[in-house]
Amino acid sequence: MTKKLYIETYGCQMNLSDSEVVASILEKDGYGITDEIKEADVIFVNTCSIRDHAERRVRNRIQEFKHLKEIKPDLKIGVLGCMAERLKETILKEENFVDIVVGPDAYRDIPNLIEETKDGRQIANTILSLEETYADINPVRLDKNGISAFISIMRGCDNYCAYCVVPYTRGHERSRDPKSIIREAKDLLVKGYKEITLLGQNVNSFDWQENGEKINFAALLKMVADVSPEIRIRFSTSHPKDISDELIETIATTPNICNSIHLPVQSGSSSCLKRMKRSYTREWYINRIDKIKELIPNCGLSTDVIAGFCGETEDEHKETLSVMKYVGYDYAFMFKYSERPDTFAANKLADDIDEKTKGRRLQEIIKLQQELGYNSNLQDIDKVFRVLVDNISKRSNLQMAGRNDQNKVIVFDKKDSKLGDYVNVKCTSCTAATLKGEIV
Ligand code: 5AD
Ligand code: SF4
Repeated sequence: MTKKLYIETYGCQMNLSDSEVVASILEKDGYGITDEIKEADVIFVNTCSIRDHAERRVRNRIQEFKHLKEIKPDLKIGVLGCMAERLKETILKEENFVDIVVGPDAYRDIPNLIEETKDGRQIANTILSLEETYADINPVRLDKNGISAFISIMRGCDNYCAYCVVPYTRGHERSRDPKSIIREAKDLLVKGYKEITLLGQNVNSFDWQENGEKINFAALLKMVADVSPEIRIRFSTSHPKDISDELIETIATTPNICNSIHLPVQSGSSSCLKRMKRSYTREWYINRIDKIKELIPNCGLSTDVIAGFCGETEDEHKETLSVMKYVGYDYAFMFKYSERPDTFAANKLADDIDEKTKGRRLQEIIKLQQELGYNSNLQDIDKVFRVLVDNISKRSNLQMAGRNDQNKVIVFDKKDSKLGDYVNVKCTSCTAATLKGEIV
């Protein structure tokens, strides 16, 4: 292989998975993958638009590529993903050193697009598709450890939450052929992987119909889990409106589906959820949590929270804090509301919570979550967990780190364990962020 691709990925796990698809497409076109940006013939940045901050970060980062082009005039620079889709040709006008702009459904076209830029032209393909799932592409695994991998099972989103740019940047929801998903899972098993995360913007609405047979997410999850009891299965991300009893039962009764659910609440207030167009109420969300706790008593629970959405009152904010306390999340991703152009909220609702109030509410949410995370960790002391060893501890190479079923990180003395082993670890102490333990 003579030509080299360097790819940098921002944003969600879906983007990491897409970068693996892009790497695979370019590998077939004769490219090798490099970690050394200076060696690259093509530099791609796979981007995120979810908040303004994410876009600004990428804008700053790509400026650093400009001088590389001065040293290597044939170097091609491409912007991929959500920002590419949102801004389209504008990026080419505003950043005149960028050669290629490619939206999330147009990655197959990349080899042609590179060819088209040979005479110095800039080019964009941001056509969205109703069918593209890249089902036939076996992704090049860009992870370094060979232990956990992603499988993308659906693309796009039809929920149109008022604040969210994703339906516009990733297009309509479509599910991938389960046969190709199982094929990919079996391939990962052969390669020695021990953990698979099924990915999609809203995996619970997975829906495949063929010859009168219907496969929903619960059925798909079970099919993937049946590939091997030695592979554990996770999934991300779920919408509270679609988390059915059948799905919770499937998780409860299938040993290698991890007891861990990421269930973004966004707000704990029914009136705020209504403005967010989340299509569930506080009561519905609590009902789903109760069902999870009933059927999977030791389930790990995490969430996403937005502080300071349009019109959020102090009482609504307090309802968010109270739902967090009720659930007792192990972990949360917490954000200040960031208005995104062309969304329902940007068009119809006033972004009327001032920065100071947004910041203060976010701090209250973060502080509460630290307490909840710590409390949850304290409950785990003296318990024994089956842990998949997936890392060497950052502090000392005599220690290893891994995650339990509930997706909590546990650090422990190495003893005879190696990366990729399952070991039983007894928790002996904790901080707010991690559990510590010893192999038993
Ligand atoms: N502002 C702040 N947070 C947002 N999210 C999505 N859109 C926005 C926005 N405009 C958050 C939601 C979502 C997570 C991926 O990002 O919490 O679940
Ligand atoms: Fe965005 Fe809502 Fe779709 Fe999630 S479900 S990607 S928050 S529109």
